[in-house]
Amino acid sequence: DSLTSVTSTSRDIVEVAKENGKNYLVLYGSQTGTGEDYAKKFAKELITKFQLKVMCVDVEKYDFENLSQLSPNVPISFFISTYGEGDFPDGAVALEEFLRGVEAGSLSNLKYTLFGLGNSTYEFYNGASKKAEEYLKESGANLIGSFGLADDGAGTTDEDYLSWKDATLDALKDVLSLDEHEEKFEPAYKYEELEQFYDESVSHGEPTTAYLPDNVVKGPFTHNQPFLSPIVKSKELFKNTDRNCIHAEFSLEGSNLKYTTGDHLGLLPSNSDEHVKQFLTTFNLKPDVVFDLISTDATIQPPFPVPTSIGAAVRHYLEITGPVSRAVFGQLIEFAPNEEVKAKLSVLAKDKDEFAKQITSKQFNFTDAVLYLSEGKPWSTVPWNFLLETLPHMQPRYYSISSSSTSEPNAVHVTAVVENQPNPAQEGKKITGVATNLLRNVQLVQNKVDVAEIEKNEKENKSSTPSLPVHYDLNGPRNLYKDFKLPIHIRHSQFRLPSNPSTPVIMIGPGTGVAPFRGFIRERVAYKENHKDDAEQLGKHILFYGSRNHDDYLYSEEWPEYSKKLDESFELVVAHSRLGDSKKKTYVQDLLIERRDDIFKMIKDGAFIYVCGDAKGMAQGVHRSLVQIISEGNKVSEEDASEIIKMMKTNGKYQEDVW
Ligand code: FAD
Ligand code: 2AM
Repeated sequence: DSLTSVTSTSRDIVEVAKENGKNYLVLYGSQTGTGEDYAKKFAKELITKFQLKVMCVDVEKYDFENLSQLSPNVPISFFISTYGEGDFPDGAVALEEFLRGVEAGSLSNLKYTLFGLGNSTYEFYNGASKKAEEYLKESGANLIGSFGLADDGAGTTDEDYLSWKDATLDALKDVLSLDEHEEKFEPAYKYEELEQFYDESVSHGEPTTAYLPDNVVKGPFTHNQPFLSPIVKSKELFKNTDRNCIHAEFSLEGSNLKYTTGDHLGLLPSNSDEHVKQFLTTFNLKPDVVFDLISTDATIQPPFPVPTSIGAAVRHYLEITGPVSRAVFGQLIEFAPNEEVKAKLSVLAKDKDEFAKQITSKQFNFTDAVLYLSEGKPWSTVPWNFLLETLPHMQPRYYSISSSSTSEPNAVHVTAVVENQPNPAQEGKKITGVATNLLRNVQLVQNKVDVAEIEKNEKENKSSTPSLPVHYDLNGPRNLYKDFKLPIHIRHSQFRLPSNPSTPVIMIGPGTGVAPFRGFIRERVAYKENHKDDAEQLGKHILFYGSRNHDDYLYSEEWPEYSKKLDESFELVVAHSRLGDSKKKTYVQDLLIERRDDIFKMIKDGAFIYVCGDAKGMAQGVHRSLVQIISEGNKVSEEDASEIIKMMKTNGKYQEDVW
């Protein structure tokens, strides 16, 4: 057994590794869970392939001051995600400080590998892992294999991981002279089905054990322990043929949670009835079976509250929709229901192009994909504990808060466009987003919308209403979700209005990118109301908003109110891209160019620029327009104008909140 059980309360990474008899460390600094997921996959592979005694942990939980004393026979694999402007994840800030301050040459005993997760649509692509690489080099530590980079912007994270992983495992085998063993699933927890249990101690999907058994939890509420916040109000901001958008107001009453205008809300969603059922049927699982997971190792905790039922775990803790990972296909081979499927799986696990063609391009989720391989027949051969240890765990979705912490300190508003489209590759199937359909479902139920009627209309194809949301259990056992309570936390961002209200502000946010700017404008309205006599003259606040036409014009009834209250200090400029019969698309970046003289003057006067929304097309288009405006205005080359913008980003005067 590669795992030994020792308890430790120490935070010293060297001491804990030693106490637990570990000979390999996999350390992750992850913001949204993707880095954590790959780190765990990698650790599992080290265990099964090389039978190493691996400790795979979040860097947040350990101190690194004594790292130079780690045995030279204990290599480290780092997985580091980048967040914001090239920043380390919140939990990895202490590791960053340690690495930055480490003495040159002092880690020359250390062997390491490094995999960074980032997004090339951001200016500081993979900024955190690149910094880590620089510091580690400086410290004299020895890189095994090559530094790997995953690019979410190109949508290649999974493939980037797989090619880095294959090369790195080969390099590790060579450098450390490791023997290779046949790969087999080795559970990290002892799995036990319970015949008898106290009903009160069984989790029904509570976000943490603190919610058991009576649902009363005192804070602090964080990413690790979300607050069950009631949605007190929700409405549909628009609906048209293929899209709709939800405004939801979460209450922070009684939570002690505080936010600042410009922050993000983290929402931990759960899967729809439809998807849960499809998953359970495919793997022949019984939802009412209650099970326990027992750690065989002090350095790992069960990933969710146990004991729980299979049904609750599938609904709340597993990410069962979304694109399938080729790595998971490789692991499934040993559990294929028959030789034919095993042969198909083996091809797909090895052949990246075939996998892309047969699985990814059809936008299959995990269950669709396995059913495709077995021609619709269920798979009874896959152990449930393999699925729960192998599939990714449900992660919070983030929303730019669209309220102001000054005007509504106890409420958080979000503006979410519902992800719901027909799947062009699978007739009659939809591709749906987990969190946004949950929000839509709350909206329908809360406002007593006749769902059956929508369904009927849709079936008869009479109306242009968007496809019906999948049904959610909004009144689950123990009324966990009663009163539309959903698990949330606040993530603090650096997206902030200038502290001096007289500073001019340029905001660019088409579509749901307008969310934080609604918050900004409400903030300025509150400022004006709270400082009637001593208000500093507000600087000019110009907002470039874009929608297809009038139907999807968000908060159209609110903007005139804000204009009235803010007088000339607020101007809204709207780009419609599909108005009337016009074939010409007008985008926010086009209107920036139209207003180039005003924009350039505002920048000269020290304006802060904010861009929010689509990271791929929009943010780049806006960047290009601003480069053009600055280059023409300053009579400098476009390269020099780009440098000016880069400087503004570094100084916090050009801020992006893009996804
Ligand atoms: P998910 O379930 O996460 O699915 C994501 C996408 O994948 C969907 O489009 C879905 O249709 C598609 N999909 C599902 N299954 C498959 C498959 N098998 N193959 C291919 N594709 C598939 N969004 C907003 O609306 N408003 C905001 O203010 C906002 N702010 C954000 C701020 C930040 C900092 C970030 C990072 C994101 C923000 N987002 C915002 C996006 C938001 O976090 C979610 O990503 C979005 O709402 C979709 O979540 P979901 O759970 O509904 O979809
Ligand atoms: P479109 O869908 O008609 O192309 C909100 O989604 C608005 O952003 C819509 O008007 C949408 O236009 C527009 N949009 C789409 N791609 C964009 C891009 N690359 N730059 C700016 N706006 C864009």
